[in-house]
Amino acid sequence: MKLSQALTALSVAWFAVLGCIQAVTLEVHEGNSTCIKAELSALFSITYNTSSSTRTVQVSLPDSATVNTGSSSCGTGGSSPWLVAVFGSGHALGLSFSTNGSLYRVANLTLQYNLSDTSVFPDANSSDVVTVTSVSVGIWAIINTTYHCVSPTPFRVGGDTVTFSIMRLQAFMPGNDLSPTESVCMADKASTTATTTTASVTTTAAPAPSPPGTPERGTYSVKNSNGTICLLAQMGLQLNVSYMSVSQNKTVQNVLNLNPNLTSSSGSCEASRATLVLTQEQSTTLNFTFTMNSTSNKYHLSEISLFANWPNMTTPFIASNTSLNYLRSTLGHSYMCNAEQTLVVIPAFSLNTFRLQVQPFGVTTNQFATAEDCQIDQDQMLIPIIVGAALAGLVLIVLVAYLIGRRRSHAGYQTI
Ligand SMILES: *[C@@H]1O[C@H](CO)[C@@H](O)[C@H](O)[C@H]1NC(C)=O
Ligand SMILES: *[C@@H]1O[C@H](CO)[C@@H](O)[C@H](O)[C@H]1NC(C)=O
Ligand SMILES: *[C@@H]1O[C@H](CO)[C@@H](O)[C@H](O)[C@H]1NC(C)=O
Ligand SMILES: *[C@@H]1O[C@H](CO)[C@@H](O)[C@H](O)[C@H]1NC(C)=O
Ligand SMILES: *[C@@H]1O[C@H](CO)[C@@H](O)[C@H](O)[C@H]1NC(C)=O
Ligand SMILES: *[C@@H]1O[C@H](CO)[C@@H](O)[C@H](O)[C@H]1NC(C)=O
Ligand SMILES: *[C@@H]1O[C@H](CO)[C@@H](O)[C@H](O)[C@H]1NC(C)=O
Ligand SMILES: *[C@@H]1O[C@H](CO)[C@@H](O)[C@H](O)[C@H]1NC(C)=O
Ligand SMILES: *[C@@H]1O[C@H](CO)[C@@H](O)[C@H](O)[C@H]1NC(C)=O
Ligand SMILES: *[C@@H]1O[C@H](CO)[C@@H](O)[C@H](O)[C@H]1NC(C)=O
Ligand SMILES: *[C@@H]1O[C@H](CO)[C@@H](O)[C@H](O)[C@H]1NC(C)=O
Ligand SMILES: *[C@@H]1O[C@H](CO)[C@@H](O)[C@H](O)[C@H]1NC(C)=O
Repeated sequence: MKLSQALTALSVAWFAVLGCIQAVTLEVHEGNSTCIKAELSALFSITYNTSSSTRTVQVSLPDSATVNTGSSSCGTGGSSPWLVAVFGSGHALGLSFSTNGSLYRVANLTLQYNLSDTSVFPDANSSDVVTVTSVSVGIWAIINTTYHCVSPTPFRVGGDTVTFSIMRLQAFMPGNDLSPTESVCMADKASTTATTTTASVTTTAAPAPSPPGTPERGTYSVKNSNGTICLLAQMGLQLNVSYMSVSQNKTVQNVLNLNPNLTSSSGSCEASRATLVLTQEQSTTLNFTFTMNSTSNKYHLSEISLFANWPNMTTPFIASNTSLNYLRSTLGHSYMCNAEQTLVVIPAFSLNTFRLQVQPFGVTTNQFATAEDCQIDQDQMLIPIIVGAALAGLVLIVLVAYLIGRRRSHAGYQTI
């Protein structure tokens, strides 16, 4: 009974967390032409009152969200183009756009939520439908280009927060699909290939509290639809995250070990792409995506993303980097690294791995194939060889010196 309850709670949490990073596609049409198109993930952090306290819930825009054709419009006849996405019972996200001919921008951002939806707002002391709006949120792009922002970007709307990530968006569209030319947001430019998270990455990090020691090694796997294991991993994992702390009102750096006992694994396997998703309770989700190059038959870890919602964070921490090149190995082999490795994901988040072995492709009979060792391990294996060789050399020199010495003294006796 207890176990089944725990499993239910875990799966609910898992779906809640998974929901946070769903990408949703929304389009506003008029006649046959599309005027607004958006592909985005959105996370809402909403504060409401119960009879005794205030509570904050995290709600994500589900992929069941649809465009409300009644209130959305392409803005013909003087009004602004408006995209309204509705989801759940009476919740909505609205984006209205304006342009001055060379740029277009999100003129206002509206969030509407229905406090009588007890599945989202348990114990709310009100049953109102609340609407909050924020004007000039700073999402803008050059006309005829697509606004592109991978970095999670939080926007304050009333007392609540809307965090967009992996966002591609265009209004006043010249064609029916997103323009290939993109206006990249400041946050993405600031961190070049990596993506930035939350507001305060640039603040200097406080000295880290005492590190938690080496993490325990966990065994994780992903099964395909057959029920056969298609991805295998064994590793100890340590997260190193900088974020804004509620209690300390400044950026703190936290090092946290993943506890395998509390971590569940899932994921997916495709021919050239395999994903391992690790979820620790409901507060931490870590995603690894491996990519296979079918020409060279080599694979690597191309993507790491993290969702963390720890009690002392002001906003949930969301980070991802899709252009990594770690843990390179060859199809038919596993990748192994016993030494500690640091995988930097973004400046505010890196991952330390310990005693790692992973095989994302070509797993047969539920076992690792022959391992290819990482460079650090190979270097460390070289050390005893070098030391051994040096010792052997030394012994040889001493021996030769002794022999020569003996012969000399021998010769000495003979001449006397
Ligand atoms: C993890 O990967 C899955 C499958 O690709 C994806 O649906 C999910 O959004 C990812 N989660 C995170 C935290 O990025
Ligand atoms: C939409 O497309 C159909 C067929 O392609 C065409 O007959 C119709 O006139 C178009 N409507 C508008 C408003 O352009
Ligand atoms: C919660 O209650 C406080 C005090 O009654 C009030 O000031 C505040 O506006 C309320 N917050 C919300 C989100 O309704
Ligand atoms: C936001 O935009 C919508 C659509 O243009 C408009 O109806 C609404 O009044 C605007 N709200 C504010 C506060 O400007
Ligand atoms: C708000 O939620 C309640 C309960 O789920 C539902 O009966 C009601 O119709 C919703 N209101 C709106 C405006 O959708
Ligand atoms: C549109 O606004 C931008 C920024 O405010 C400005 O640089 C640009 O000159 C404006 N374009 C027109 C045609 O007014
Ligand atoms: C945007 O594209 C439309 C249609 O292709 C074109 O008429 C318009 O001149 C373009 N605007 C700019 C500023 O390039
Ligand atoms: C099912 O398993 C077989 C081998 O056991 C494999 O060839 C096949 O690709 C698997 N199917 C899927 C959908 O992975
Ligand atoms: C947090 O720090 C900022 C500036 O460092 C200050 O303006 C703000 O009042 C502080 N907030 C709290 C709750 O201490
Ligand atoms: C995980 O569980 C094992 C066996 O129940 C226990 O020995 C170990 O200490 C646990 N690890 C942690 C980090 O709680
Ligand atoms: C795959 O590997 C080949 C040969 O090493 C290389 O030329 C090609 O660019 C790679 N493809 C991708 C998508 O990385
Ligand atoms: C923040 O929360 C995490 C997870 O609950 C905890 O491990 C860590 O020690 C906390 N850090 C601070 C600075 O309070």
